[in-house]
Amino acid sequence: MALAYEDDMITDIRRRLDRPVVLIGLMGVGKTRLGRMLATTLDLPFVDSDEEIEKAAGMDISDIFERYGEAHFRDGEHRVIKRLLEGPLRVIATGGGAIMTPKTAELMWEKTLTIWIKADIDVMVERTSRTDKRPLLQSGDSKTILGELADKRYPIYEKADIMVESHNGPAKSILEPTLNAIDSYLRLR
Ligand code: S3P
Repeated sequence: MALAYEDDMITDIRRRLDRPVVLIGLMGVGKTRLGRMLATTLDLPFVDSDEEIEKAAGMDISDIFERYGEAHFRDGEHRVIKRLLEGPLRVIATGGGAIMTPKTAELMWEKTLTIWIKADIDVMVERTSRTDKRPLLQSGDSKTILGELADKRYPIYEKADIMVESHNGPAKSILEPTLNAIDSYLRLR
């Protein structure tokens, strides 16, 4: 379903965009939901790196963590993201820790337009409480863990080309600010 935005702006973005758009940010900020909408609006394919890792491994992320550990997961994540960045122009949602692996970060900073989606801790806690699919949140209180991850990761996320704030409303409400930010960024680059 195409979403109605100013056609001129979308056309301009598409004309200027020469790199994949990559969404980064902590678990539960809404990278996948926004990514899908962004892709639809820009008429680009969408891919979620976590889903690609699960497909490649033939098992879900919790099982990869449990059986092989986080370091093994990060290696697989790197290979998958490298492959995705070699593919066609598209919107890619990445797992929250992907950009914390230096060799993956290097690729992402160099080859993509990065968008950091930032949300309040309570929004992330609420959203992540809906599933038990995130191994890093299974070992304790999710608010504490997300707070610690924020302290560690925000200095890296802050290097993104664009930052958008996600509130506890429908993903659609951050689509417009995201498009405006992409448009401004590409004009000023
Ligand atoms: C992780 C985030 C998850 C997933 C894995 C590890 C992280 O993806 O890649 O559980 O380190 O923040 P989402 O950010 O899509 O939940």
